[in-house]
Order: sequence, then C-alpha cells, then structure tokens
Amino acid sequence: MKPSVILYKTLPDDLLARLESHFTVTQLADLSPETVRQNAQTFARAEGILGSSEKVDKAFLEHTPGLRAASTVSVGYDNFDVAALSERGIALMHTPTVLTETVADTMMTLVLATARRALEVAERVKTGEWTGSIGPDWFGIDVHHKTMGILGMGRIGLALAQRAHFGFNMPILYNARRHHQEAEERFNARYCDLDTLLAESDFVCISLPLTEETWHLIGAGQLARMKSSAILINAGRGPVIDEKALIQALIEGKIHAAGLDVFEQEPLPPDSPLLSLPNVVALPHIGSATHETRYNMAACAVDNLIAALSGNVKENCVNPQVLK
Ligand code: DGY
Repeated sequence: MKPSVILYKTLPDDLLARLESHFTVTQLADLSPETVRQNAQTFARAEGILGSSEKVDKAFLEHTPGLRAASTVSVGYDNFDVAALSERGIALMHTPTVLTETVADTMMTLVLATARRALEVAERVKTGEWTGSIGPDWFGIDVHHKTMGILGMGRIGLALAQRAHFGFNMPILYNARRHHQEAEERFNARYCDLDTLLAESDFVCISLPLTEETWHLIGAGQLARMKSSAILINAGRGPVIDEKALIQALIEGKIHAAGLDVFEQEPLPPDSPLLSLPNVVALPHIGSATHETRYNMAACAVDNLIAALSGNVKENCVNPQVLK
C-alpha cells in the first residue's frame, strides 16, 4: 500500500501526478485545528505532509502519530517546531537552493525602488501630477557606489552581494555567525560587528531566518545607530525587526526609508501605519514569487518528500540527525 500524504497547497498538475504516483494523497485547504478535527482519520494515518505557511507545532503533532516526514515549499521553516519534530523522529525537508537568485532579485528591487522612489513617483505619473520638468522633490538617491551592509551571509546574502558588487560597484559589509571566505574573496566583503555595519551602511539588508536570536534583532537602539540617510531592507522574516520601533524611526526621520517584503503580521493589516508612510515600499512577501521559482520550489518539495519517505535523503533536510 502507498503511504498516505496530506497536501495543503495547490500543485501544478504534473507535480501532483508525480506525488500521486508515490503516495495516496489527500488535498486539504490548511492544517487548522478545524481541518484537523474534520479529517481526524486522515491525519492519524498520514506519513507525510507537504505545503507551506501553516503552523506545525506540538499540538498539531498529537494528531499525526504516524508522521515520518514534513516537506515545506519554502526555505524558511520558522512555522515548524523543529525540536518537537526531531524528538518524534520526523524529518523536516525544505527548499534552500532553488529560490536563492529570485529572492536576491527581490532584495535588489527593494533597494532600487526605495532609493529611487520608483513606486511613489510612478503613482504621481498615473494621477496626472507629471506636468513639467521634475524638480528635487521628485529626486531619489544613488544606489551605485554606496555601501551595502548585509545581515546574514547565507546563499541569498551571497547572491545579493554578487549583484551589489558586480552590478552596482558597492562596497559590501556583512555580519553573520561566521566569516564567509567566498564573500570576502569574490566580492571583497568586509566582516564587521552589527553596530559597525549599522553605522557605516547606506543600505542595511536583512537576509536572516527567524530564530530566538534574530527576533527583534533590529529595534529602536539599532535603528538609532543607522545613518539618517540610510535605507533598511527586509526580505528575511518580519519579526527580525521591531516594527513599532521602525515606524517610529521612519516618522521621526531617524532613517531615510524602508523596503519591506515581510512583516510582523502577514498579510499586513490595512490599518498599519507603514501603509501611509511615503518612504516605505511594502511588498506582499513576493521574495520567491515568480512562476519559474515557485514551480521549482514545489518540484523540490515533492522530490524531498519522496526521498524522505523512501529513506533516500541526500540533501535539504533540516534535522538530518533523525535519518540515522
Ligand atoms: C521562503 O521560502 O521562506 C521565502 O520566504 C519565500 O519567499
């Protein structure tokens, strides 16, 4: 008999067919307590789950006694209680490589859009305000040759450094858990502590996962260390920034602007002050959201689950100790 798998994300037809050729698949809308209650038998016999953007915690795992693998269609896995999964011997699979370049493109989009005020002035064109030669009140600031500070030198940080160094002649500073030889050799990136990076960077770009250590890493104290002309970019996870402190810093002109793809609460609530600040570019978590990359992520997640449930994992496992 094929192992039972719960799918909580829509897949392209060919990938669904691939999944179904290995497993008995039940497609559900989400993993909410209500869905779990209504499909108790299905959850009880599930050996695998595949999807994204749903919490998988201790309480959820009580309903899945037979679970052996969870496959997320994302690189980030802050929705999962990894310790609880590992304790139960459940492999957690993710998609770390296929989205790197696309997310780095998103970060560069935020850098350019905030610095050149692209969305703000484009809106003025649409509303008919472009009636003559533009003056300084429409000007932005340069990106090229400015200093980029990168928090988190993982794959995405490295791809961002590559763009900034070769494409925009930007000196690169970075802070990470350890020195990154490739970044230093290829992009002349300079390792520095957080305070130095904040003080010296024109663009502070966050490419960090959400962990206990990174939660509210950037708060009022850190924002105060940034140049008043600096721009803060976040495409990691929203709660890495204390959003209230950021709003205050933007209102008081302590920093110049912010480009955000992620937020403390997603979707961003309609009454968020961020929406009325002209110096904020807010995107709806589009980091990896291109047709090509989302397809590749879904394909990777399907292959990851097949590998995990057949004992063939070679890569992409967050907690490989459970495989031994
Ligand atoms: C991820 O995969 O974790 C990213 O946030 C997707 O954009």
